[in-house]
Amino acid sequence: MDRILIRGGQPLRGTIRIGGAKNAALPLMAASLLTKDTLSLSNLPDLVDITTMAKLLGELGVDVARDPKANVPDAGQVFRLTAGDIINTTAPYDLVRRMRASVLVLGPLLARRGRARVSLPGGCAIGTRPVDLHLKALRQLGARIDLAEGYIDAHAENGLIGTHIVFPMVTVGGTENLLMAASLAKGRTVLANAAREPEVTDLARCLIAMGAKIEGIGTDTLVVDGVSSLSGASYAVVPDRIETGTYAIAAAITGGELMLEGARADLSQAVFKVLSSAGVEITEKNGGLSVAHTNGPLVGVDVMTEPYPGFPTDMQAQLMALMAVSGGASMITESIFENRFMHVPELCRMGADINVHGASAIVRGVKKLSGAQVMATDLRASVSLVLAGLAAEGETVVNRVYHLDRGYERLDDKLKACGASVQRIAG
Ligand code: UD1
Repeated sequence: MDRILIRGGQPLRGTIRIGGAKNAALPLMAASLLTKDTLSLSNLPDLVDITTMAKLLGELGVDVARDPKANVPDAGQVFRLTAGDIINTTAPYDLVRRMRASVLVLGPLLARRGRARVSLPGGCAIGTRPVDLHLKALRQLGARIDLAEGYIDAHAENGLIGTHIVFPMVTVGGTENLLMAASLAKGRTVLANAAREPEVTDLARCLIAMGAKIEGIGTDTLVVDGVSSLSGASYAVVPDRIETGTYAIAAAITGGELMLEGARADLSQAVFKVLSSAGVEITEKNGGLSVAHTNGPLVGVDVMTEPYPGFPTDMQAQLMALMAVSGGASMITESIFENRFMHVPELCRMGADINVHGASAIVRGVKKLSGAQVMATDLRASVSLVLAGLAAEGETVVNRVYHLDRGYERLDDKLKACGASVQRIAG
């Protein structure tokens, strides 16, 4: 398993291009199942999760053609996805186990083929993460769903029927599955307490380009008038707000200055508000964002993760690394997932002073972190250790790099190009 060796202490300077959002790309790819025509997606990031989704769609019968001319390094990939015939409606355990987002094929398969068999995702490193809300809402659309042998067995041979659905809690994947299913259901579906994440909005926009009728985009009530069929479209994936926030923290934690090309401030308001309060300078410039921390100490800020437009849970671990070296204390409360502090013991091994009390972590800033061998069990926790390593004295080795490859495109190259001493060690 590859590792990353970091020698900390170099202020990062330079330009990093922000890629397309992984969490937007995955549901957009699943949306290709809704039409027999070609859905052409551009600005797709080159990530393991994207390859896993392409493999899953391939098994279902989708023709996934990469446009080789368009695959210029750093320009995003282009995939042409054609689900002419869906030959198989089963998403097997082996793929779903590797990537929970595989469950996003459930809604489209049910809507287009009237049946789907999808392995239950089960637990993951950041909590139990059930899919009960997806299933409850699909049942409300008329699907018959049984759970047997570790699989979700769903049927709707006579089609889905629109209805009024109120999500008891905000679910990003649940909203996406239902948006896709409702687009081909008979009549009107109202999704209340829907997720408002930019990735949900991106999916809704792409579905509209395919002929879907959706209103209320960007609000917590989405109204979908089902259509009998959808057509192909060309769509560019929104820039990754989590990659943006992560590199913004890389600039801040090293006392450097980065130009984040293609980053959009409007997608990251909550994160930038927190970073500005901590003393990070963020300016919109020539179609991107300049992020710097060049003078004075950073200060601790209290933060609670919330559904969009609140502070994203996917930025919690990275912010904690920054708070670990900021002046004063900071309280970070995780309200979305119950077990998302696995990075805490590892940051403490690097010299951080963090105490967890239930869903909150009290972080008391220290002057310096020191390099260590560390490892994390999920994507954002892993990248928070990379950030800590960039700021630490001495050498940090981050093990289990495959987590990073699931969500950060060429992370080591991007950091190296901006002056970081980062080396990937194979094996
Ligand atoms: C998506 C993101 C993930 C992000 C999360 C929250 C993708 C591929 N992943 O995950 O990176 O951290 O949103 O912003 O887009 N829940 C239930 N029952 C359900 C569904 C969810 O109890 O049926 C709970 C979850 O356990 C969690 C909360 O609801 O506590 C939010 O989960 P959800 O928004 O569904 O996250 P994902 O879509 O899995």
